[in-house]
Amino acid sequence: MMEKPDIKHLFEPRSIAVIGASENPGKIGHVLVQNIVEMGYTGRIYPVNPKGGEILGHKIITDLTAIDDEIDVAIIAVPARAIVPAVRMCAAAGVKHLSVITSGFGEIGNLEEERWVATFARENGMRVLGPNIFGHYSARVSLNATFGPKDIRKGNVAIITQSGALGIAMIGKTAVQNIGLSAIISVGNKSDIDEADLLEYLVEQDDTKIILMYIEGIQKGERLVEVLIEATKVKPVVVIKSGRSKRGAIAAASHTGSLAGSDKIFDAIMRQCGVLRAESVDEALEWCNFLSHAPAPQGENTVIITNGGGVGVLATDACEKYDVKLFDDSQHLKNQFELVTHGFGSTKNPIDITGEASADDYVHALNVAREDELINGVLALYCETALMTAGELTRVIEDSYTNYQQAGKPVVFALFGGEKTELVINNLTQKNIPVYRDVYNATSCMGTLYSFSKQKEGGDKVLDDSTVDIAAIDKIVDDALADGREFLLANEGELLLKAAGLTGPKNGIARSITSAVDIAEEIGYPVVMKVVSRDILHKSDVGGVLLDLDNKAEILDAYQTIMHNCKSHKPNAVIDGVEIVEQVKPGTEVIIGAMRDKVFGPIMMFGLGGIYVEVMKDVSFRALPLSRSEVRTMIKEIRSYPLLLGVRGEARKDIEQIVETIFKLGTIIRNCARITDIEINPLMVYDEGQGVKTVDVRVLLSTAEKGENNA
Ligand code: COA
Repeated sequence: MMEKPDIKHLFEPRSIAVIGASENPGKIGHVLVQNIVEMGYTGRIYPVNPKGGEILGHKIITDLTAIDDEIDVAIIAVPARAIVPAVRMCAAAGVKHLSVITSGFGEIGNLEEERWVATFARENGMRVLGPNIFGHYSARVSLNATFGPKDIRKGNVAIITQSGALGIAMIGKTAVQNIGLSAIISVGNKSDIDEADLLEYLVEQDDTKIILMYIEGIQKGERLVEVLIEATKVKPVVVIKSGRSKRGAIAAASHTGSLAGSDKIFDAIMRQCGVLRAESVDEALEWCNFLSHAPAPQGENTVIITNGGGVGVLATDACEKYDVKLFDDSQHLKNQFELVTHGFGSTKNPIDITGEASADDYVHALNVAREDELINGVLALYCETALMTAGELTRVIEDSYTNYQQAGKPVVFALFGGEKTELVINNLTQKNIPVYRDVYNATSCMGTLYSFSKQKEGGDKVLDDSTVDIAAIDKIVDDALADGREFLLANEGELLLKAAGLTGPKNGIARSITSAVDIAEEIGYPVVMKVVSRDILHKSDVGGVLLDLDNKAEILDAYQTIMHNCKSHKPNAVIDGVEIVEQVKPGTEVIIGAMRDKVFGPIMMFGLGGIYVEVMKDVSFRALPLSRSEVRTMIKEIRSYPLLLGVRGEARKDIEQIVETIFKLGTIIRNCARITDIEINPLMVYDEGQGVKTVDVRVLLSTAEKGENNA
């Protein structure tokens, strides 16, 4: 196997070949050459076609191996049936990267040929973008190697897209909205190069300030998470993922041939990675444009300045939705803004300068907020009045925006009105000034900026819990698998808990009525008694379980009752004995799950037990590995979290012991490849300092090797 070439040369190729370059202007192979030539690519171009000829002043060569040059990128635009000879020719010519435009592979079930291309390329030291893509654009070398629009604005937003058609549409949209791009890459079927590879490169490039990804399905989720966690510490990453609704998920799966993971898991993991998840393409582009120009805020104190009370209230609601913190030192605001609020206005945030406000008043209020060191960001709203002409409003906003940029303080505008306002918005948008037609757009941009700035550097270290005895757990798993089972029996589950340092209820198995009494006395009352029999699966249904047993007399009765019930319901059942189990004190019930997700590998789930999980589906997810602080965030994320803090005079629960239990289960699933699921349900949580107790644990196994679930 040859060494992989540096992906840098995909973005900064010194030479490019177009295989399937055609003299026919209607062919994709023609448009590709035309786009490359017309954008003014700075390197050498080699159109290739066995027929020869000429295209846009470039001689078409018939065989790539005949030229004496190193080819960094070969764009392949020949039909699927001609792909093999084309790829072989590229390998023979020492090409470093293939950009395979051709469709007709994995997306229609033709995986074999797609895999051949990826494998052959790897063996011959080539990396593959695609297949099934529209190509890529790189501002660095003025390279438009796509068959999309010719007009691509140069700038600092990089777009990675799995959908070709949407990617082409985004080129058009960004040009209209005056959003500049540093790169756009169509990843298609991701047979080799995927989002993680591209992120690793783009995050290092200073000319890319923000990365936008459109994702339909993820294949190597664990690696993507690793790369995203690092990337979002450096620059904002906005993600649009389709497949939020159930129908959408099915459409995405059939479109790309890759499985779209459950949206809830995806959403939680993206949040864990610090990604900004947009609901729509428009929202994503607005964020990108705003974030690529906005200065970093020094804090989160925001004021709303408005000439209309109603839109001020709407903006207040939007602030709550997008987590924008309104500055509420009313005395300070009164001192600062009293002069500009006229008699009917308000100095309480929103600062309402009223409909009477003149251009000077508006400028004055914006200047006060800009110079005030306690204010970190401004949402400036304006409803059209007869007091300002379109020209005046444009000038006021333009000047104020420039002053805010110079002061390093973020500001965003939302304007409401008719024709005059539209004129102002269009003028300002062309100058890349963030003006919107609604408070929600403006506020969501501001919220996104704060959210990115809050991204903490690093966090605490991710470690496994070294007290978990992995060797002992592996042995328990070996024994169960040797017994032909893909699950652990109750007593094996208890041994696993012990090896992890977790406490379950005390228990013992009685094979006679006298030993039942001895065991119960040893455990301490009250206890529960359960029949032990492989032939009785639903123990409660046959009267094989009795609760609340408080003394010796009750044990004697219960033993006989259980035997009688089981024999009358299942006369042929072999009864191995009766299990006596400590009756766990009631507490707050929580569920902790560890499982292997098809896309993201080992993940954790947490929720409160009973109706909270069953009816409300109030659970949170995280990908592993996790730091303890991330586990705390995961616990806080459920809506019923206040119940753990103690409501109506109850004490706070032992949250730290929940953290430890999640941490231990995470350590087990990460290190014991053959365990596919562990679920503690319920874990009884007591008041702070009183610990937790595992009431029941369910463990599922698989003989498949680690990684097989994660192809
Ligand atoms: N080396 C070089 N050129 C070759 C070749 C080879 N091994 N085999 C064929 N060609 C030439 C053909 O002669 C033709 O040139 P010509 O016009 O001078 O005759 C050119 O390559 C293209 O081949 P053609 O058979 O005309 O195919 P096409 O242009 O109709 O379609 C694709 C080719 C790649 C565009 C088409 O197969 C395809 O996949 N289209 C979908 C692309 C797409 O949508 N991608 C995803 C976007 S998101």
